[in-house]
Amino acid sequence: MPEADESGEAKQFHAEVPQPAEKFYLKGSQSLDWGMKNRLARIFNPLSGRTVMLAFDHGYFQGPTTGLERIDLAILPLEPYADTLMLTRGILRSIVPPSSQKSIVLRVSGGASILKELSNEEIAVDIEDAVRLNVCAMAVQVFIGGEHEKQSVINMTKMIDRGMRYGIPTLAVTAVGKDMKRDARYFRLATRICAELGAHYVKTYYVPEGFETVTAACPVPIVIAGGKKIPELDALTMAYRAIQEGAAGVDMGRNIFQAEAPVAMIQAVRAVVHRNEKPEKALELYHSLKNKKK
Ligand code: 5RP
Repeated sequence: MPEADESGEAKQFHAEVPQPAEKFYLKGSQSLDWGMKNRLARIFNPLSGRTVMLAFDHGYFQGPTTGLERIDLAILPLEPYADTLMLTRGILRSIVPPSSQKSIVLRVSGGASILKELSNEEIAVDIEDAVRLNVCAMAVQVFIGGEHEKQSVINMTKMIDRGMRYGIPTLAVTAVGKDMKRDARYFRLATRICAELGAHYVKTYYVPEGFETVTAACPVPIVIAGGKKIPELDALTMAYRAIQEGAAGVDMGRNIFQAEAPVAMIQAVRAVVHRNEKPEKALELYHSLKNKKK
């Protein structure tokens, strides 16, 4: 028998104070379960609502590309400045210390290499392994208009269904074939298809014309990939414009790890994403951090 609790004065119950009902801050995520929201909140900073994902999963189809020859030496020093690490399970287990507090977005599609048709991917990771690795989201490549379009879309929907069972969100990564036109019309189509079929957030590329229509038409958050290495000011300008035009962050790889000073560059990108820093100011920050190191 529990002992009688006689200290329960009415005032302790604060009957006049309503319990807060938090409105979740991420676009399109209100109806998700607690685990899903909690994982998304480890990717998207709750204060800014945005994320700097550091992408270094490129090796899954192109091997040790420039800047990723030694992930232990080149990428681990960047880890403290990222909100999230996007990578493969091979690199996670072999190189990233399990004591890392960063959220993990795990690449779960694969099977094609740069030597063959890239859209010919399958699901390459069991959901159980994603659970075991305590990941915050799973990333699947989707090739709208590509040779294996349907296969890649079904890879995504399968991972969404599996992730829903365990509260793990799925990031749809829109990949554009070499001969396809990268414009707002294409990205509206690709991102919307991914979101309609259940992706919890979508990665796409920035386009200078009409990007705001891409983010407006997509009911879940959009993050932009960096793409090929371009001058630092151009990369910061691209990130700035994407954020001002509705993106919820970046999933950037080469423009960070191929920069002359990657640790300075990721901090400059953070300033743009989380503090709305103007590109020129962020470039000044980049140079001052770069020079401090010397
Ligand atoms: C590879 C990817 C990359 O993670 C993505 O392209 C981001 O990296 P980058 O900024 O170098 O383009 O999804 O398929």
